[in-house]
Amino acid sequence: MHTDDINFHTRKWIRPEDLNANGTLFGGSLLRWIDEEAAIYAMIQLGNERVVTKYMSEINFVSSAEQGDIVEMGLRATKFGRTSLTMRAEVRNLFTRQRILTVDSMVFVNLSDDGVPTPHGQTEITYERDRIPERLRPAAHEPRWH
Ligand SMILES: CC(C)(COP(=O)(O)OP(=O)(O)OC[C@H]1O[C@@H](n2cnc3c(N)ncnc32)[C@H](O)[C@@H]1OP(=O)(O)O)[C@@H](O)C(=O)NCCC(=O)NCCS
Repeated sequence: MHTDDINFHTRKWIRPEDLNANGTLFGGSLLRWIDEEAAIYAMIQLGNERVVTKYMSEINFVSSAEQGDIVEMGLRATKFGRTSLTMRAEVRNLFTRQRILTVDSMVFVNLSDDGVPTPHGQTEITYERDRIPERLRPAAHEPRWH
């Protein structure tokens, strides 16, 4: 996994409720955060809020984090399928850059309003918010995104 081309987004501060019995970061918390982050990323890339997690490859908990550490989550789309989007994920320590978790492949599926896989028509990564569906955009009199 290369970190150079991953965009890191959300940061999390490790709190007491995120710890396991060993006193380090609980893997379940980490997976919940990364799944949510990936879902939001998929929504923005595919322009549809109806996306679901289909598949996650091997999850590698590379190193641990402790209470008070700040971690950041990175994602990058690796394949635009017909109805799916595949991405890879990495979580690292914000300050030391030490890797905490890697997931080589997370697949999200684009659904229609009635919950059926549907083509998304996208082929490339966007770095903007230009695919947000019209119905979710601010009205003309409201401030626009930058
Ligand atoms: C998502 C769901 C609708 C897909 O149904 P499905 O019958 O597998 O749909 P398809 O066979 O048409 O596959 C849809 C896409 O997923 C991909 N896919 C299916 N199984 C896959 C797997 N095991 N690994 C990777 N990709 C897979 C297909 O290749 C296809 O992508 P493409 O169109 O880009 O080629 C269905 O599996 C489902 O509802 N799963 C539960 C989702 C869920 O609740 N997630 C957790 C909460 S968000």
